[in-house]
Amino acid sequence: MTRHFLRDDDLSQAEQTEILNLAIELKKDRFAVRPLAGPQTVAVIFDKSSTRTRVSFAVGIADLGGSPLIISTANSQLGGKETAADTARVLERQVAAIVWRTFAQSGLEEMAAGTTVPVINGLSDEFHPCQLLADLLTIREHRGELAGRTVTFVGDGACNMAQSYLLAGTVAGMHVRIASPAGYAPDPQVVDDARAAALLTGGSVTLFTDPIAAVSEADVVVTDTWVSMGKEEEKALRLDELRDYRVDAALLAHAQPDALFLHCLPADRGYEVTAEVIDGPQSVIWDEAENRLHAQKALLVWLLARTSA
Ligand code: CP
Ligand code: NVA
Repeated sequence: MTRHFLRDDDLSQAEQTEILNLAIELKKDRFAVRPLAGPQTVAVIFDKSSTRTRVSFAVGIADLGGSPLIISTANSQLGGKETAADTARVLERQVAAIVWRTFAQSGLEEMAAGTTVPVINGLSDEFHPCQLLADLLTIREHRGELAGRTVTFVGDGACNMAQSYLLAGTVAGMHVRIASPAGYAPDPQVVDDARAAALLTGGSVTLFTDPIAAVSEADVVVTDTWVSMGKEEEKALRLDELRDYRVDAALLAHAQPDALFLHCLPADRGYEVTAEVIDGPQSVIWDEAENRLHAQKALLVWLLARTSA
């Protein structure tokens, strides 16, 4: 059986914990395991721009003894000339796994349905589950046990990061709050799925329009760009409609005094977050960015072991 990682709730709470535990071990000893020795190749495909995802997968695959093959959709037959399913059938005979950053989640589902190698979501319009593994690892490193912690996402509640917080946070047993204006609420189906996960783990989901109420007493405060990739033509409207959802020092002061601030990056200082917050003492963004490497290596090791079993 092949295990894929297309959305955060593809993992149970126990599986998510297993991967985070492995990430902690691999962070202590980067070259401890080499399941891709050969080297075997992992295809990492980009329909959208990337710095962190590209670097952390390339470095992580090399750390595991493998060889990364970075593919830009612009220079490939995927995305117009060939279906995801056909691409997957070509790749699976030559690579150990496929990572894909794309637009619609449905493309990832099509690719995963058509292949025997693990498919990993490197970001879609709907979810960014690899980033959430890194975020949860960062919160665990700084605060310990995840279950029972309150995390508040402020801003575009319909973006991939907010929706992944809903799923990954509730799988971890966290209380997930989203603060967004009308028109920027998460997909109701994702909210329902997160509530279903929370029922199993003791977590919860609460949607707010008031950012102060949402951030009140939170252990972790998170935001993301107001203009996600693919939304560039709405930029002026978004900067206007989201302007009251900026994470500044006054808003962060409503959270726990030692609350952590996270942002997946890239950030627009002065828009979704002020420089004093993102560059301030509560921000753990550089650990968060580094943890992409360790979390994704753990994910690859785990998926490869499950898939060959
Ligand atoms: N956070 C993140 O995924 O960054 P990149 O877009 O640079 O990969
Ligand atoms: N929500 C952002 C995340 C970038 C890593 C986007 O999709 O552009």
